[in-house]
Amino acid sequence: MSDLFGFSNINELALVGAAATIVITLIVLAVYFKNIAGSKSSGELSDGAWDGIKEYKNPLPLGWAISFLGLGIWAIWYMYAGYPLNAYSQIGEYNEEVAGHNAKFEAKWQNVDEATLISMGESIFSVQCAPCHGLTGDGIDGKMAADLTKWGTEASIVSSVLHGSKGLGYELIEMLPELDGLVEGEGDVELAKNYLVKYLAQTKPLTADDENTKEAEAEVWNNVCAACHSEDGKGNGAPDLTNYGKPEFVVDVLNRGKSGYIGNMPPFNDDRLTDIQKRAVGAYVLSLRR
Ligand code: HEC
Ligand code: HEC
Repeated sequence: MSDLFGFSNINELALVGAAATIVITLIVLAVYFKNIAGSKSSGELSDGAWDGIKEYKNPLPLGWAISFLGLGIWAIWYMYAGYPLNAYSQIGEYNEEVAGHNAKFEAKWQNVDEATLISMGESIFSVQCAPCHGLTGDGIDGKMAADLTKWGTEASIVSSVLHGSKGLGYELIEMLPELDGLVEGEGDVELAKNYLVKYLAQTKPLTADDENTKEAEAEVWNNVCAACHSEDGKGNGAPDLTNYGKPEFVVDVLNRGKSGYIGNMPPFNDDRLTDIQKRAVGAYVLSLRR
């Protein structure tokens, strides 16, 4: 690639191109000035006059007209198809380099331990997330962005159902406050939440007592939540809640963005963060819970 026409470097190629453009321009200008100086105009004059100045009725020079049209067509082609963004160009080269570094980065951190992941997440958070969520993650008391010291907890499952949730862009679009009257107050929601964290997400270890309450908890989950989140919790047009309280759920939020009741969080679905960086910042976000 880089030794195109024997040049080792794209800047040299560009400099030679620029010099050639200047030389050609000067030659063309010189020819035209010479012609103007020596010309005795003749021919038919136009009818209209502009402040007493009349024009000759000259047809468009054919060569000029063809070049003009051709250039227009070429410009459109170049803008939408021809510019080698992913091939030989400075931007293409840059993109290739970034992709290469990202692949190396991903490979290097593939089996990173939890503590390293969280400290990696912390530095990403301070740059990418703190402008809205604040350095402490509380989103200025949850007014400017989600309060991440409270989000992702068992209590936040309950409060999501009571206050509703929207804006992640799922097929079912939104979970209405108190499921539009399907549940009232915390009672049933608490039971469903317990079933979710103990048996589906498995983020809470089981105790001997749990056998006694399992049936009541399963009943609410299956009768109320499963319609949208499905019996196994993996979701049916609604989020996969087996990931709730885990970095995977944060990654899903980052990929989707969220415009909900608090405000608008644009998605991180471009190449700002690699997969491992999203997982790292997810682990850090969950470490903020109090
Ligand atoms: C009518 C369908 C429906 C039902 C029933 C339903 N949900 Fe949801 N739920 C959704 C949708 C849709 C979302 C995604 C909302 C969004 O975009 O923020 C969601 C999101 C959630 C979230 C994630 C909120 C967040 O912060 O991102 C939790 C937790 C949740 N539901 C728990 C429950 C529980 C527990 C029940 C049963 C008591 C339940 N849901 C019943 C549709 C439903
Ligand atoms: C431009 C401001 C902005 C930036 C930057 C931003 N967020 Fe958010 N974030 C928000 C807002 C606003 C909400 C609340 C959306 C709502 O529920 O109305 C939110 C909500 C969240 C939630 C809760 C989602 C849910 O399902 O309720 C998580 C988790 C989150 N952000 C993580 C992050 C992380 C991690 C980053 C950095 C990689 C980040 N955010 C960057 C504004 C932002």
